[in-house]
Amino acid sequence: MKTRKLLTLTAAFLAAMTLGAMAQEDPGKTEYMTACAVCHGESGLGNGPFAALMSIEVPGLTGLAAANDGAFPFLDVLMIVDGRTGVRGHGGPMPVWGDRYEQAALEQAGVYGAELIVRGRLLALVEYLESIQQ
Ligand code: HEC
Repeated sequence: MKTRKLLTLTAAFLAAMTLGAMAQEDPGKTEYMTACAVCHGESGLGNGPFAALMSIEVPGLTGLAAANDGAFPFLDVLMIVDGRTGVRGHGGPMPVWGDRYEQAALEQAGVYGAELIVRGRLLALVEYLESIQQ
């Protein structure tokens, strides 16, 4: 019984280490899986578990480059996800991530540091989106 517990603990520890390493490898992907996959799907096809509960269709995110003559519209996507720039129409169902990230960052780093943290997280996220274009 004791050995079993130890094995379980070891496995949990190793899993946590692996997850930590993965997070370090690609913070944008971690961000995506945490904040976006629930609606847009783990592989970005618009089929996350939450999508079925929404009254409007959740778009896939792997065809953003294709829809823009093959060039990933980096800045447009950045501003859509940020949401603070007012690029998106009001009343859309998608949360304003810039605001959300800012709340956590403010507690961590104060007003000036927070803006940098928010921008860094958004950039990593959009870079990840660029990497999953088909
Ligand atoms: C609650 C569900 C939900 C979550 C969570 C969500 N989205 Fe969305 N997203 C939508 C819906 C619905 C739309 C289409 C309508 C709109 O723009 O509000 C959309 C639109 C988009 C678009 C525009 C796509 C296009 O074809 O123009 C982008 C880019 C996007 N989301 C990225 C993200 C990213 C990145 C995250 C994570 C930070 C995220 N979304 C989290 C529901 C969600």
